[in-house]
Amino acid sequence: MTVPEPARPDIRDRDDVERLVRAFYERALVDPVIGFLFVDVARLDLDAHVPVITSFWATILLGEGSYRGGAFRPHAALNAQARLRPGHFARWLLLWRATVDELFAGPRAEQAKHHAERVARAFDGRLRGIEPPLEPATGLQISLHRPPRD
Ligand code: HEM
Ligand code: HEM
Repeated sequence: MTVPEPARPDIRDRDDVERLVRAFYERALVDPVIGFLFVDVARLDLDAHVPVITSFWATILLGEGSYRGGAFRPHAALNAQARLRPGHFARWLLLWRATVDELFAGPRAEQAKHHAERVARAFDGRLRGIEPPLEPATGLQISLHRPPRD
């Protein structure tokens, strides 16, 4: 006989949101695909970061209104140091969905997954739009040759 899984609650309050955020970073920081972006590139100060991210999600999920906006900017800064690729966003979303599903179930849990997908898609699209061409590391000159126009 299979033991039924205990019913998971939906996200109820800010404490739940913080629990979700912390559980996510426990995975993300040691993740073989994206962990280095937080640890080595951004040198993330988790204790400073968790309240901001918690406010972001509490604003979206609970209408708390505590997040001041401007979420894209730090990702553009990070992207200038180490390119954020579609595969990084896909991995971020996989970890986020897994963490949400492990802890919570219900309309807010669904919204958390759904909105993350929209934001990830928007960030990725904006980064692709602003991506400058890679600088040749050696000062290599690139010239373009084409036949003369008639
Ligand atoms: C309860 C409703 C919603 C709330 C409270 C909410 C809240 C937020 C917040 C706080 C941000 C971060 C904005 C910033 O950093 O400046 C954001 C970003 C975003 N939201 Fe929502 N949102 C909601 C519904 C939606 C819906 C319905 C859509 C799409 C149909 C959506 C699409 C997006 C996208 C694409 C971004 C990223 C924008 C960017 O920086 O490129 N959101 N949302
Ligand atoms: C590969 C994907 C991602 C990486 C590597 C990444 C990494 C980071 C880093 C390093 C910061 C700056 C922390 C700091 O120094 O304060 C940050 C901030 C933030 N990230 Fe991400 N992130 C990713 C995707 C996302 C997605 C998909 C979302 C939303 C669904 C998100 C939401 C936020 C928010 C709200 C902040 C705080 C911005 C602020 O200071 O107001 N991130 N992220």
